[in-house]
Amino acid sequence: MSMNLVTLLYLVASVCFIQALKGLSHPTTSIRGNLFGMIGMTIAVLTTAALIVKLSETAGLSTVGGLGYVLAALVVGGGAGAVMAQRVEMTKMPELVAFMHSMIGLAAVFIAVAAVAEPYAFQIVHTKGELIPTGNRLELFLGAAIGAITFSGSVIAFGKLSGKYKFRLFQGAPVQFAGQHMLNLVLGLATVGLGLAFMVTENWTAFFAMLALAFVMGVLIIIPIGGADMPVVVSMLNSYSGWAAAGIGFSLNNAMLIIAGSLVGSSGAILSYIMCKAMNRSFFNVILGGFGGEATTAAAGGQVQRNVKSGSADDAAFVLSNAETVVIVPGYGLAVARAQHAVKELAAKLTEKGVTVKYAIHPVAGRMPGHMNVLLAEAEVPYDQVFEMEDINGEFGQADVAIILGANDVVNPAAHVKGSPIYGMPILEAYKAKTVIVNKRSMAAGYAGLDNELFYMDKTMMVFGDAKKVVEDMVKAVE
Ligand code: TAP
Repeated sequence: MSMNLVTLLYLVASVCFIQALKGLSHPTTSIRGNLFGMIGMTIAVLTTAALIVKLSETAGLSTVGGLGYVLAALVVGGGAGAVMAQRVEMTKMPELVAFMHSMIGLAAVFIAVAAVAEPYAFQIVHTKGELIPTGNRLELFLGAAIGAITFSGSVIAFGKLSGKYKFRLFQGAPVQFAGQHMLNLVLGLATVGLGLAFMVTENWTAFFAMLALAFVMGVLIIIPIGGADMPVVVSMLNSYSGWAAAGIGFSLNNAMLIIAGSLVGSSGAILSYIMCKAMNRSFFNVILGGFGGEATTAAAGGQVQRNVKSGSADDAAFVLSNAETVVIVPGYGLAVARAQHAVKELAAKLTEKGVTVKYAIHPVAGRMPGHMNVLLAEAEVPYDQVFEMEDINGEFGQADVAIILGANDVVNPAAHVKGSPIYGMPILEAYKAKTVIVNKRSMAAGYAGLDNELFYMDKTMMVFGDAKKVVEDMVKAVE
């Protein structure tokens, strides 16, 4: 295989990846997007295998040996990935993503170490014993450092998300101490200093010391961040893992790695930006703050009992059946309860009765971007009934009923109250509907750990219980 053909195939794979990203931006095109991604990855892997054969032959090395390692890694990694992807629940998806990022970070570190140890084998230098060019040393330093931060940061993020992180009483609570930011700054400067020392001198000790500090920094950067901000952090780590891969791609002179890494790096950065915007937080506020943990602690610390109006599923069904327009607001609780199919049935029954039903989706409803859209698409909810926040907020004022299913923060009017931790966060204005029905299991706070005034309003009826059970009961009652 000629190098021209390799470049051409890598280009085709890159175009497939771009098409994949484009397709994944909407539920209607997401299957096509996934297909493009799979085709692109297959082309990239096969081309790389052919490249290994070619390079092994040129270097006079055993082709079988080189390919054997790659095949073994593909079988082990691909097999583990397939099993995990099949088993993972929608609500646990951010953990899986965090785990995958940690692997990408570690892969970048391993490649960088191998390239520093054997630059001749990686064709970074022309003859054995020659020094690695300064530009390549910079790329290796950056790729390895970002990879190490991504690895240890993602491991901590995984632990926090899965609740297996028990440094403190509250699982996943931020770990903060005096002088933390200063320590991070000093470590960051030391990492850069050691990296530059490696770049100038090609000193191994400086390289490994830099790597060790980067691993520690990954931990220290993530531990102070609260659970509510973890999805943003996972998306940020996603971006880091892409840049680490791109950095290593430059060293290896591999166009595919550079393009794929840059796509991951930039899309992860854009996603982090979108999420921060939807929560009205600056990126630095997320990274430097401990939002989420303290609030949860406060909420857990006992609240004053207040009265709310509560009703049964039958009462709610009666109100819904007599409405002209109903807006359904799905949240994290709906995902946990797997109530999407029951909700679709409820909407269908109401539509049969002449009620206009719409779904309102908040950009950060649930635990990951697009969470609600994916769930509703899975239940085959018609796309023309699903509306984004900007498009539906103007309609709540005219809606007879807003029914909130397992959502809390995304409808919390505290976002309009100065001084509230979520002040400024754009919310679904469900409180404007003529009647509000809220389903959740208790009066417990949502992810941000805040009380919600909406639950105490005169026009609000709480229907307590698991979302699936409650909605199924509503379906029966509507029938
Ligand atoms: P939350 O504010 O977490 O509220 C979910 C509610 O669902 C809880 O109050 C819970 O109350 C209820 N619930 C849990 N299990 C239930 C079940 N089986 N049946 C019925 N109700 C159940 O969720 P949200 O409104 O979707 O907001 C998302 C939160 O995640 C926001 O704080 C957002 O900032 C954060 N976040 C999301 C993202 C993305 S991209 N999605 C990114 C960053 C942060 P009970 O315990 O009383 O049932």
